[in-house]
Amino acid sequence: MVKQDKIINGRQHTGNCKLFLENLKSKRIILRPLLMKDTRDIFSYRSQADIYQFQSWQPKTIVDVENFIESQIVGEPNLPNTWFQLAICKFDPDELIGDCGLHFFEKESSQVEIGITLKQEEQGLGYATEALKLVFNFVFRDLKKHRIFGSVDPNNRASIRLMERMRMRKEAHFIESIWFNNRWSDDILYAILDREWKTT
Ligand SMILES: CC(C)(COP(=O)(O)OP(=O)(O)OC[C@H]1O[C@@H](n2cnc3c(N)ncnc32)[C@H](O)[C@@H]1OP(=O)(O)O)[C@@H](O)C(=O)NCCC(=O)NCCS
Repeated sequence: MVKQDKIINGRQHTGNCKLFLENLKSKRIILRPLLMKDTRDIFSYRSQADIYQFQSWQPKTIVDVENFIESQIVGEPNLPNTWFQLAICKFDPDELIGDCGLHFFEKESSQVEIGITLKQEEQGLGYATEALKLVFNFVFRDLKKHRIFGSVDPNNRASIRLMERMRMRKEAHFIESIWFNNRWSDDILYAILDREWKTT
C-alpha cells in the first residue's frame, strides 16, 4: 500500500520509490527525476550534433524537449514499458550536467536498458561512471532487477569505455541491425547481471 504520494511532472509518484530516489547521491552528484524546468538545460546539450550523433532522439526545438519530458517520461520508475529519465546534477540540485534514462519492460522480464548523456564540458571527469554506479545500485538492490543492458554504436568509443568501466560484458555485435541517420548501422550490446554487480 502506498503511504506517501508526490506529484512529479503532474503524475503520481509513490512514496516508496521516493525513498529510494532520495538516496541516489554520491560525494559529487545527485540524481533526481527530470522536471519541466530542465527543458532549456536539456535542449542546450542534447541539440548539439556531437552529443546526439549516436542517439535516436535528436531534438530540433525546445518544444521537442517539452514534448519529451511531458509525454515520454513518467513520474515513477519501474512501470512496465516506460522510460524513466533522471537528471544528473552536481551536488547543487539546480546544476544539471546530464541525464540518464532507464527503460523498463514487462514486469516478468526483470531487465532494464540504460542510456546516458553528459554535457560536453562535463565529460572526461568521471561523472557518468559515478552516475551509473548509483543507478546500478538502485536497479539491482532497490528494484531487485536481474539484468541491465545498454546498446552502443561501435563508433561511440567513450560510451564503450564507459560500459567496460562498469564491468559490463560485450554480449553481441549485430551487423547493420539498425536504420539510423539514413543508413544501416551496427549495434553492440553490453550487459551485466545482478550477481555480477554484487561482486564488483
Ligand atoms: C557516453 C558518455 C556519457 C561518457 O562520458 P565520459 O565523460 O567519457 O565518462 P565519465 O564521465 O565516466 O568519465 C570517464 C573519463 O574521465 C576520466 N576521469 C577524469 N577524472 C576522473 C575521476 N575523478 N573519476 C573517474 N574518471 C575520471 C576517466 O579516465 C575517463 O577517461 P577515458 O574515457 O578517456 O578513459 C559521453 O561520452 C556522452 O554523453 N556522449 C554523448 C551521448 C551518448 O552517445 N551516450 C551514449 C549512448 S546511450
